[in-house]
Amino acid sequence: MILLLGNTGYMGHAFEKALQDSKTPFLSLSRKTTDYTRFEILIEVIRKNKITFLINAAGYTGKPNVDTCETAWADTLQGNTLLPLTIAQACAAAGVPWGHVSSGCIFAGAKISENGTWRVEKDFSKPALKKVAEENPFAIRGFDETDEPNFSFRKPPCSFYSGTKAMGEEAIKNVGEGYIWRLRIPFDENDNGRNYLTKLQRYAKVYDNVNSLSHRADFVRACLELWQRKAPFGIYNVTNPGFVTSKQVVGMIETILKPARTFEFWESDEEFYRHAAKTPRSNCVMDVTKLLSTGVKMRPVQEALEDSLCHWQPENR
Ligand SMILES: NC(=O)c1ccc[n+]([C@@H]2O[C@H](COP(=O)([O-])OP(=O)(O)OC[C@H]3O[C@@H](n4cnc5c(N)ncnc54)[C@H](OP(=O)(O)O)[C@@H]3O)[C@@H](O)[C@H]2O)c1
Repeated sequence: MILLLGNTGYMGHAFEKALQDSKTPFLSLSRKTTDYTRFEILIEVIRKNKITFLINAAGYTGKPNVDTCETAWADTLQGNTLLPLTIAQACAAAGVPWGHVSSGCIFAGAKISENGTWRVEKDFSKPALKKVAEENPFAIRGFDETDEPNFSFRKPPCSFYSGTKAMGEEAIKNVGEGYIWRLRIPFDENDNGRNYLTKLQRYAKVYDNVNSLSHRADFVRACLELWQRKAPFGIYNVTNPGFVTSKQVVGMIETILKPARTFEFWESDEEFYRHAAKTPRSNCVMDVTKLLSTGVKMRPVQEALEDSLCHWQPENR
């Protein structure tokens, strides 16, 4: 029996659907009925229900966005660092492996090829680098699982949210046996305030940057497959291979959905942070070689985006 934590959330809901669709026996817990943030309660649930694998899709993301985490320190620290540690410790004590939904937001930038060597460039907002991303994608490589987070409390600047996600990984990576699954900017065909494709359509002005992304159901399938295939425990970047600029995604929205509106972009980072954001945003490219080497398949990000837009389900608002 699988135990799923955080099923009431955006990602937890997708895990719940995948488990239901595959008729996998599972138990979902919400804090509303069972306070799974308490070690003694969680370990009792694990033991009583003979749990064989625990999925942690719970966490504090901040609503409407990560700027909220800049003031909600206690919730952010509790949801993203202390809770994962409690969960990993309870699982280790009960001898149960776990899977934790982490985030790629602990990185900024990408590796860029220059004169035959690769160097890390943290800031992709520079027009020259966006041009490289658009015109010469082979000159760009993502961060892999051996790279230390470079958008964290150890490597500032970072947002408070990203700092607590990186600390969460650090706290749990050697506790028991488990997977750290790094998600990055989820999207799919279902219009929803949490979906990147919805967000882009609702922003008054779009912030153009370079990112890897995760199709929500592809992410969930890949995570579950790692466990089913008995892939070695550890950290996995779980994004669709490749990367896109926000402008490229907006171009796809315009071509496929043909919205009535026109899109405007913030002229510069400076303008974006002056008017629309408080804390630094992570924009980054992730490398998925490790995930693909296990035999788990992920379609390229452009293909997943096109598929989502071609099957777009508008929300009745
Ligand atoms: N959405 C994204 O863009 C994104 C990107 C990268 C990574 N992630 C990570 O993916 C995980 C799930 O994110 P999500 O977008 O699905 O979040 P969400 O929609 O806000 O759902 C998270 C769920 O976590 C539970 N929870 C447990 N402790 C909590 C706390 N202290 N504060 C708030 N909620 C708490 C809540 O369920 P109950 O109260 O019912 O138990 C809540 O429904 C998080 O770890 C997040 O950091 C998300």
